[in-house]
Order: sequence, then C-alpha cells, then structure tokens
Amino acid sequence: MRIGVLTSGGDCPGLNAVIRSVVHRGVVDHGDEIIGFQDGWRGLLEGSHRPLTLDSVSGILAQGGTILGSSRVQPSHLRDGVERAKKYCEDLGIDAVIPIGGEGTLKAAKLMSDGGLPVVGVPKTIDNDIACTDVTFGFDTAVSVATDALDRLKTTAESHQRVMVVELMGRHTGWIALHAGMAAGAHAIVVPERPFHIDKLTEVVRERFDRHKKFAIVVCAEGAKPEPGTMHWEEGVRDIYGHERFTGVANQLSRELEHRLGKEAKPVILGHTQRGGTPTAYDRVLATRFGWHAVEAVHKGAFGHITALQGTQINLVPLAEAVADLKTVPAERYVEAEMVI
Ligand code: F6P
Repeated sequence: MRIGVLTSGGDCPGLNAVIRSVVHRGVVDHGDEIIGFQDGWRGLLEGSHRPLTLDSVSGILAQGGTILGSSRVQPSHLRDGVERAKKYCEDLGIDAVIPIGGEGTLKAAKLMSDGGLPVVGVPKTIDNDIACTDVTFGFDTAVSVATDALDRLKTTAESHQRVMVVELMGRHTGWIALHAGMAAGAHAIVVPERPFHIDKLTEVVRERFDRHKKFAIVVCAEGAKPEPGTMHWEEGVRDIYGHERFTGVANQLSRELEHRLGKEAKPVILGHTQRGGTPTAYDRVLATRFGWHAVEAVHKGAFGHITALQGTQINLVPLAEAVADLKTVPAERYVEAEMVI
C-alpha cells in the first residue's frame, strides 16, 4: 500500500517516534511505501510531499519536534479542501492517510474521512485532553519538564521569600498543571475546569506564610480564569484559528496576590519549553505503539478511527467519538490535589 503521513497542529515530543514507527511497520513488515506530507494539512492541500524511507527516519526516535513540519490551518480552508485533498491522494496513488494531531487535527481528519478520504488518526497533544485515550504521548514529557521547573523554582522562591505563580500549558484543560503541581508539591493548583476564587486563593497562600513557611508556589494552567465578577480580569481576543490569545493568568494573578498579601509575587511562564526537546521513554513507547497500530488499522481497512490507549491496550475508536468532547480534569481528581499546603 501507499500510505501518507502528516503531523499537524502544535508540535509535541513523540511525533517523530510515530513517524518512524509507521515507516518501520509499513516498509519492513508490509512492504508499504510511506509518503510524508510537509507541514501538516497544508502539505496535503497545497501539494507538498516527500518519500519516507528507513534511511530518512533513522535516528529520529528520540528527537523532539517533527521532521515533517507542522502548521495550523483555518477550518474554512480545510472545508473547502476536501475534494482537492482526495484528488491529490488519488494522483499520488495514496491508499490511506495517517494524520497525527490534537483536537483540531482530528476534527479535520473527521471532515476528510466523512468526505471519503481513507483516514486513520493518531492522537497527540501535551495537553492530554483527547477523549477516548487514557493518555496522549507528549504529556509525560511536558509534565516532567514542568515538574523539574517547579522543583527549581521552589529553591529560589524560598531564598527570597516569594510567591511564584507558574503558568503551564493547558488551553481548555488543566492536566499538566494538575500532574506537575502534584508531582512538585505545589501549594495551590488552578485549572480551567474550575474557575478560582481569588479570596480563597489569597487565604491559602496567606495561611501558609502565617505558619512561618517562607514561600509559596501557585501553579496555574494558562486557560484558568477567576469566577466571574470576583476580580478584575482582562479577556483575550481570538486568533484566526479561533483560539483565544491568553492575556497571561500568571501575570494577572501575581499582581493581584502581591497587592493583597504585601508579599513579592513573581510570574513565571514556562510556555513552549514544555513542548520542545526529547520525549521521555514513556512517550517514545506510546508513540511507537500508536504508529504500529495505525498501520495495522490501515491494513484492516479500519478507516475513520483513531488509535487510543485504554488501560494497557491500544484500541481503535471512531473519530466521531474521539472528537465529541474534550477530556477534562474530573472534579474528584482536582479535589485530591486542591490547594494542598
Ligand atoms: O498543543 C496544545 C498547546 O500546547 C496548548 O496548551 C497551547 O495553548 C497551545 O498549544 C499553544 O500553541 P501555539 O503557540 O503553537 O499556537
């Protein structure tokens, strides 16, 4: 078979491990030919591809980023591009496409699949917010990077008796904040799923200082917001892809906490550091398994599905189910970690 692969949306440690796995499983075990589309859906819509051989994926297992490049594409451009993508695949003799991506990419994959393109998706995102799969690769790496940063911030915060307000990625969900915050023993964790009350947050930090503790670490997901009307809050505008441009929860929160507590509060925004660099062993293994199972799914003709980790098994889940809802942090998980001091 001739199989196309693309990586789309925000990059993520482990993408290269999936690409490598698809090439190995496809070429070595099935005698497939693998074609890589350049820069995500754009490569499929605008006609940019290259062959992927065993040589071209040699040594990429531990490499961050994606050798295929990535991009974001406006939904309207995708909607208008279904027929063009199908024609392009027909012309290239492509039997199936494996798009590797997060929520937006999988929605685009569903659109293409509904339009008749044979697609098997592979979910990726450091945010870990894709429904149907217990974990996405990239998440473990992001949590490790964030935990290391929090451990480091603790020592400097203590030396200077400061509050550190640390903003981690998580547009709609607080999985990274929850896990890294728990792993590093943060003193408060705020997530988008549960708007925070500034009075309560201030009290948690104040009580800590009252108990002669010398510093506090507040971890917040970038999409976290206060309960409406409880503090002055600058809302962000939306970009052309429909994503909110965040105004900086760490900046706003640290200003407010400093004012209320009379203690120095510093914002730290970890940003894309969480997405860069080499994947952890866990992410390499999960990414490799996803690639392997995606090729198997193509050979079984199980189009319109994604690979998903459920328990220890990799199963196939319909794209429609996978994109129906985001996987948010459930209340009981948040309660376990809430305002731990
Ligand atoms: O991959 C998802 C994500 O990490 C979000 O948490 C974050 O808001 C977004 O990507 C930022 O992506 P970019 O700056 O590349 O558009």
